Formats: sequence, C-alpha cells, structure tokens
Amino acid sequence: MTTTAVLTPIETVKTFLSNTTNPDVIRTVVAPDATYISLNYDDPELQRIMPWCGTKKGAEVFIDNFAMVWECWEALEFKPREIFGSGEDVAVFGSFTYKSKALAQTVTTPFSILAKVKDGMIYFFQFMEDTFATAGSFRIGSAGKYQSFPKNPPFEVTRPKVTTMQAFVLEGNGPETLRLHSLAIPQPADGEVLIRTKAISLNPVDIATMKIEAVRNGLYGAANGEDVIVGWDVAGDVVVAGASVKGLKAGDRVFGCIKFPGQGKAYAEYATAPADQLAIIPEGVSYESAAAASMAAITPYGALVGKGKVSKKDKVLIHGAAGGVGHFAVQIAKSFGAYVIGTASGANLDFVKSIGADQVIDYRKEKFEDVVKDADLVLDSIDAANLLRSLDTVKKGGRVVSLKAQFEGDLDQKAKAKGVTGIRFGVYSNGADQQKIADLLASGKIRPVVFKAFTFAELPQAVAAMATVGYGKIVVTLG
Ligand SMILES: NC(=O)c1ccc[n+]([C@@H]2O[C@H](COP(=O)([O-])OP(=O)(O)OC[C@H]3O[C@@H](n4cnc5c(N)ncnc54)[C@H](OP(=O)(O)O)[C@@H]3O)[C@@H](O)[C@H]2O)c1
Repeated sequence: MTTTAVLTPIETVKTFLSNTTNPDVIRTVVAPDATYISLNYDDPELQRIMPWCGTKKGAEVFIDNFAMVWECWEALEFKPREIFGSGEDVAVFGSFTYKSKALAQTVTTPFSILAKVKDGMIYFFQFMEDTFATAGSFRIGSAGKYQSFPKNPPFEVTRPKVTTMQAFVLEGNGPETLRLHSLAIPQPADGEVLIRTKAISLNPVDIATMKIEAVRNGLYGAANGEDVIVGWDVAGDVVVAGASVKGLKAGDRVFGCIKFPGQGKAYAEYATAPADQLAIIPEGVSYESAAAASMAAITPYGALVGKGKVSKKDKVLIHGAAGGVGHFAVQIAKSFGAYVIGTASGANLDFVKSIGADQVIDYRKEKFEDVVKDADLVLDSIDAANLLRSLDTVKKGGRVVSLKAQFEGDLDQKAKAKGVTGIRFGVYSNGADQQKIADLLASGKIRPVVFKAFTFAELPQAVAAMATVGYGKIVVTLG
C-alpha cells in the first residue's frame, strides 16, 4: 500500500496558484467550505466591475472566481516574489501584469495573499491588489463607464450621491424642542467650504439663544422661515471647497467656531463655513479635542492676548477657571509665562491646579478680592456684581476684560477712579485666532479637556448635561 505525502502549506498554496484554470487540481487543495476573500469584503460597485470581489465560501467559488478572472483578463505575467510560511499561515507577495480582454488595457499591480492551510487543504484565502488599478483596466474613458467581460456590453457604475443629512432643528422655544430632521446638505458659498462634521462642541450661548425668541430669530434667521439649527463649534473633514477658496482642499481636517455671531448651524452632519474662519487640525489632535478648542479657546485668546496683552510680567486672575473658557484661559495665560490665579469651587480646584494654575481660590468659601489685591489682568466671565468686585483685585494701570457685563454706570466709574482699563470683549469667528489656538495645540501648550462626549443621537442629552458640567467641555461626536 502506498501513501501520498501531505503537501506542506507552502506547497499547497503554490499548487493552487499554478493551477487556477484546473478545477480538478483546485478541488484537491481547497477545502469544500474554504473562505475566499478577494479585495474588498463587500462593495457592490466594485462587484459590478469585478464580480469575483468580496467574501465567499466553498471550493467551487475558487473555481468560478478564477474562471471569471481568466474570462476578463489575459495573464501576461504572474510573479510571486516572496512566499513565507509559519504553522498554518502562508503569505505571498508579488506582482502581476494582466491585459483586459474587452478593452486590451494592460495593468501591473502588486498583490499579497494570506492563506491558511490545514492537512494540505486551503481553508482561508485572502487576495489583495491595487483595486484602483485593476478596476481601471475595465474603465472606458472617463470614470463611470466599464466593460469587464468581452461577451457583455459596457455598463455604468455610479456611487449613489448623498444629498441629505441629519440635523437637529429647534422647533420651538427651548432646548427641549430640538428634533432630528432630514435636510438637504448645504452648498458652500463663494469663499466657503463644506465640512463633513466629526465633532461638535457645545457652549452656554447655545442654550441662551435657544431660549430667547428675539435673539433666536435674529441669530438664526427663523423669521425668514429658515430651519433653526443651533451651534457654532465644529471639527471635521472638508468635502468640497467653494469658489475662490485658497489654502483648503477636500480631505483637510479643519476646526473652528463658525459664523459667530450669526447662523453657524453646527448641530448637523454637514456645515458650511468661510474658509478664513477655520484652521487645520494639527497632527495627533482628535476631532473631539479640536471642536472643544473652538469658541471656548478663541474667546480667552481674544480677551487675554488680543485685548489684555497678557505677558510673563502679569499676575492674572481668571474667574470660572474650571469651565470651558476658563480652562483654556488658564493654559493660554500660562503659555505666555504669566502667574495665574483661578477661581473655582469644590473638586474643580484640583482640576484648575492640574492644568497649570499657580494659585486657586474657592469662590464659595473665600472672597477673591480679600485674597488678590495686585492683579495686572482679570478675565471675568461671571456677571456685573462679580465684575465690580474684580475691580478691587487690580492694581493701578491694570486691565479687566469682561465677557459678560458692559463697563457702564458704576463699573465704568469705578474702573476710571482706580485707573484701570475696563474692556468688554465679545468673541467673533476668526481664523487668525483659531490658527493661534492650532499652534498652541500643536506645541502641546494647551490641552482641551473633554468632560463628557456624547453621540450625535444623544445631542439633546449633551445640551441638558451642560447645566451639570463638572469642568472642561462637553462635545458630541459623529461617526
Ligand atoms: N463674551 C464672549 O464672547 C463669551 C464667549 C464665550 C463664553 N462667554 C460666557 O462666559 C461664561 C463662561 O463660559 P464657559 O463656556 O466657560 O461656561 P462653562 O463651561 O459652563 O463654565 C462656567 C464656569 O463658571 C464657574 N462659575 C460659576 N459661578 C462662578 C463664580 N461666581 N465665580 C467663579 N466661577 C464661577 C463654574 O465653576 P465651578 O463649577 O467650579 O463652580 C463653571 O466651571 C458664560 O456665561 C458664557 O456665556 C462669553
């Protein structure tokens, strides 16, 4: 009695590759329930051009697939360069040159194979190549028209064009009236880009303007019958750059506070934004962090650097230092070398220290004006009463920047009497400051802290969570 030696895994794969036109040999080296993966796991458009693509099962599939391959292509050269084996695994790397029979177009592409072999039978086979190139050998002229089989007529392959998006529309007065709608994807105007949103960050102004009818109408254009879409902070990918856009192109990762004050319309899967209000997200920075570093970061940048002229000689008092604006303010002031004192409450005091503050004050336990008497610069984001007290903390010649109350009446008189410059700062979308924030992110000098991230479907819960936010930012992420 003679026994036939079982082929090694490498020999098995080599036997298969040398006999792809021979069904009898294929059946001796491929297990009846073997898995065959060619190129993409499952792509309907690719399968129209090359029907052998996708994940299939059974030895007969190996036979049928290669029968189709050889119906469509003539092999000019099949060149395995390296073949490796380890246990049941075999890897093959090489290149092939084929000519499409329908169009006589020649293509050369690298390929790789991962095969798994047990007892001389292949039970898994994955074949990868440059799909773009190989499908291209069946393409007629411009993209879209193909002929693969000589016996079949040419056909069109077009990817379905997405024209609608999901967006949260404010149907009434207040955040509880946010509802998901399917809307047309907006078109970028001259100078704008269309962004596929990957992350949105929320700000107190979102809620404030959802509640006040007059502001809401003015800000969101509801009076013109437009859908009210709230939100200003986005991070995402440029899908298309509109006319006259310079410096941004499709595929760029961008972030920014868009169209503020105005209709940012950020609570949506797509948004349009003036290219000059955006910055490129630095490498290694997530969409989530970038979105967080939009309005809440350019506000203290504009207030402390633009208006406050912060420098390393300054002692700076920052109120609300644990919040969205405050935690960026602390880090921005520190990046300029200033001595920073932050006000916060409870557990947030440790957080404020952790982001670099030199000194913290629990505003619930102490009067900050009793502790600080010689500040050079104050950032006040609280209210008029707080601002009046903030003026007591500043030395003559110092600066107080308010994000809330205007310097008028008592406030104006007190500031003047003390020889203090009082400035009210209102943020506005601007790419120059956004770029400064991008630079600080890239150098690691500021680090956005996301208190909690929600999914897009959970956006209403994210808005509700702002009332109870512990520290840092609340963001929404999209797939
Ligand atoms: N003018 C502008 O351009 C502009 C731009 C952006 C924001 N803002 C305004 O600035 C404010 C802060 O915005 P945000 O995004 O940072 O809000 P946030 O993330 O909600 O943070 C607010 C922070 O304020 C703190 N806080 C509350 N009462 C305080 C007090 N009496 N003293 C000190 N800290 C106090 C809270 O700290 P604890 O939890 O530690 O108590 C909280 O962390 C908001 O009113 C917002 O509308 C204005």
